[in-house]
Amino acid sequence: MCEKNTRLLKAYDLEADSTDIELAGQLLREGKTVIIPTETVYGLAANALDETAVKQIFEAKGRPSDNPLIVHISELAEIDKLVAEFPKELDLLAESFWPGPLTIILPKSELIPLGTSGGLPTVAIRMPENEVARAIIKSAKVPLAAPSANRSGSPSPTTFEHCVADMDGRVDAIIESYPCKVGVESTVVTLCTTPPRLLRPGAVTLSQLRRVLPDLMLDRGVLNEIDNDTTVSSPGMKYKHYAPKAEIVMVKGTSDAFAKYFNSQIAKDKQCYAVCFEEDVPLVWGKYITYGKQNDHITQAREIFALLRNLDERNVNKAFIHAPDIDGVGLAVYNRLIRSAGFNVVEL
Ligand code: TXA
Ligand code: MG
Repeated sequence: MCEKNTRLLKAYDLEADSTDIELAGQLLREGKTVIIPTETVYGLAANALDETAVKQIFEAKGRPSDNPLIVHISELAEIDKLVAEFPKELDLLAESFWPGPLTIILPKSELIPLGTSGGLPTVAIRMPENEVARAIIKSAKVPLAAPSANRSGSPSPTTFEHCVADMDGRVDAIIESYPCKVGVESTVVTLCTTPPRLLRPGAVTLSQLRRVLPDLMLDRGVLNEIDNDTTVSSPGMKYKHYAPKAEIVMVKGTSDAFAKYFNSQIAKDKQCYAVCFEEDVPLVWGKYITYGKQNDHITQAREIFALLRNLDERNVNKAFIHAPDIDGVGLAVYNRLIRSAGFNVVEL
């Protein structure tokens, strides 16, 4: 792809930074690509209704063209033109969780190009909670397709600096704003199956969703590896994901068991790292990075992607990650880490 002259814009405050928000909207309306902040991760946005604009997203990321994009809206009325059906479950979910880190999959309308839906007859819709994100959608006056703004396969960006590192020269503009509050991508639920299914866990948890959709099922791909020949419900599941250059091993067990295992590994290779909980620190002998307390899944979610990038900055060859429990937001953290590890898991 040809090198772009990437403009760096700023949007921390809706009023003080209104000029840059308007400019971002204008660029998007003209078919350009702009990286925007959201509460989950930064997103690489383009006009979702413009096939040519959307094509630049796939090019910038190096993303396979059959991996569909999420379409972002700023208010509920905007969904009317984008989907072909309005099941009552949509109202229930929207009322409880929008704006917020939940994506809902529905049959698409004619207006959504196949380039946006990855060739599927369905479309994923999300209304972000982040005020800057919604102000930019409003200013663009079009729905925005926006995958995470990382190079395909790498950890998702949760800060402006991550976006610049991955995408400077590949997009038309990058918006500088706060680090992402949630840190993992939105929960994805499909209403196109009976019963509905959770395809990707996020900050909106399975139990919160089941209060509204009691028969919601957890898709097999959330916790299990999908082989290349299986038809997947969400194309994103089959691709390599969130992988730093370091070899990652997930280790399941108590603090004592994790530390004992890690300490036996550093006896063989002094350079390897422990990625562990604060409680583990007194027990591990080698180098370590922590990602919150064992029961604090909110902090773990906020920190994991920066942590995976940090391993590369330190030129780590191999890291052993103490696996989080899979309750609440822990399921989302576990889901991302197991992919970063290429499903390489040790159970103690
Ligand atoms: O939090 C988020 O959702 C972020 C921010 C930027 O909003 N976006 C994001 O997009 O994570 P992306 O493209 O990295 O992940 C979208 C996931 C992919 O796994 C994709 O396969 C799935 O959603 N997806 C999108 N449309 C789908 C559809 N019609 N059917 C099934 N899966 C779909
Ligand atoms: Mg992504």
